[in-house]
Amino acid sequence: MNIAQVDYDGLIPNNVALGKDVRVKRALEKWHPGYLNWWNDMGPEGFQQSLVYLRTAVSVDPKGWAKFDYVRMPDYRWGVLLAPQQEGRKVNFGMHKGEEAWQEVPGEYRAMLRRLVVIQGDTEPASVEQQRHLGKTAPSLYDMRNLFQVNVEEGRHLWAMVYLLQKYFGTDGREEAEALLQRRSGDPDTPRMLGAFNEKTPDWLSFFMFTFFTDRDGKMQLEALAQSGFDPLSRTCRFMLTEEAHHMFVGETGVTRIIQRTCEAMKDAGISDPHEIEKVRKLGVIDLPTIQKKANLHFSLTLDLFGSEISTNAANAFHAGLKGRYREDRLKDDHQLESGTYPVLRLIDGKIRNEDAPALSALNMRLRDDYVADCNNGVGRWNKVINDIGIPFELKLPHVAFHRHIGEFSSIKADVNGEILSDADWQKRRNEFLPSDADRNFIESLMKPETQPGKFAGWIAPPKVGIDNKPGDFEYVKIV
Ligand SMILES: [Fe+2]
Ligand SMILES: [Fe+2]
Repeated sequence: MNIAQVDYDGLIPNNVALGKDVRVKRALEKWHPGYLNWWNDMGPEGFQQSLVYLRTAVSVDPKGWAKFDYVRMPDYRWGVLLAPQQEGRKVNFGMHKGEEAWQEVPGEYRAMLRRLVVIQGDTEPASVEQQRHLGKTAPSLYDMRNLFQVNVEEGRHLWAMVYLLQKYFGTDGREEAEALLQRRSGDPDTPRMLGAFNEKTPDWLSFFMFTFFTDRDGKMQLEALAQSGFDPLSRTCRFMLTEEAHHMFVGETGVTRIIQRTCEAMKDAGISDPHEIEKVRKLGVIDLPTIQKKANLHFSLTLDLFGSEISTNAANAFHAGLKGRYREDRLKDDHQLESGTYPVLRLIDGKIRNEDAPALSALNMRLRDDYVADCNNGVGRWNKVINDIGIPFELKLPHVAFHRHIGEFSSIKADVNGEILSDADWQKRRNEFLPSDADRNFIESLMKPETQPGKFAGWIAPPKVGIDNKPGDFEYVKIV
């Protein structure tokens, strides 16, 4: 069988020769109805019978892997797709550097590896749950379709992780696969595992910020896992990254289009001061300071996903060869990090200071730094739009100490510039930095659905090009 082609004959599309792997095929077929129940209960609310113009992976060939067509979401062909195996691939870092990559789970790392897979797996259904109400307020059919595309692919990412659990982790894996369908985002008793995945995504600006910031954390984690010496995990993550790129595209262009609409409306109305919030809001667009506050919120919540700056778990996973650095294979050093150091921002004697830490312990910090650099590139593109229209305003990422709940800065309150504030000052100034109830209410007041093909809500500009090169008035969702 050609690995680039996907076998669509059975219940579960796959390129892992599932037909010959009776035990895993049965396990997945047994898991399938529970998955569909979960999708029907927790997937996009109100649109399960609508026909959505979606892409489905039909190959893992980078040159052409997707096919577009109208699909009812519960009929989407969620499958198990791994990037092709690379001949002679080795463990590329840590104490096993230079050994053959593992095709089976190394016994001594079983628990650590299972935990990495479960944590990644848990984020996938969580975001579907967080976004399930958004279809009802979509600003266009184009945006609605993009939301649903992201949702079905997060569902497929859950399949990707569940395949690993079922194939490589025996009874424990089966139990973890069930538990992934039981937890619920935001549920007080059975929440999802990570904080940002229990927050609400109440409006479309939140959705775009989430896909820009939080899906980008997903990209960084997948990049680190794609380096894994456990080859099936690496191959799974490599293909997931292909899909993930679209999620970040949705976020980045979504925010860009909101910014563009705001700046154009200001220009047309002759408003040059971006801080004249009430005047700008009267135009029915979202003022730039509020967009900044939303970015502050989503950026800070996402930074918490990188864990503590100094982490023995991260050190152990690297040392074992299970989770590498961002683009490990392109870095030029010994890939073992037994002796080097890395600068870490820490809270020392009540002040925020840089301190050199052992490079192995500082891996979360390093991945987070790579993440922040990647975010900054996107923010720069947003600022170009503002600048080109001629509005004097610059969006900025807040300081990494701002609004943190995990790691070095969770014990302090800092403003967006990293100045430490007293609790009283933080309470007084919180609404300068983060969306207030009034901000949220205003955004919510704009969230009126627009379901005419080719029409867009007044607070967001149309995209430059359609999906799959479709014309502007294409009916991306046939609502039933
Ligand atoms: Fe994902
Ligand atoms: Fe994603």
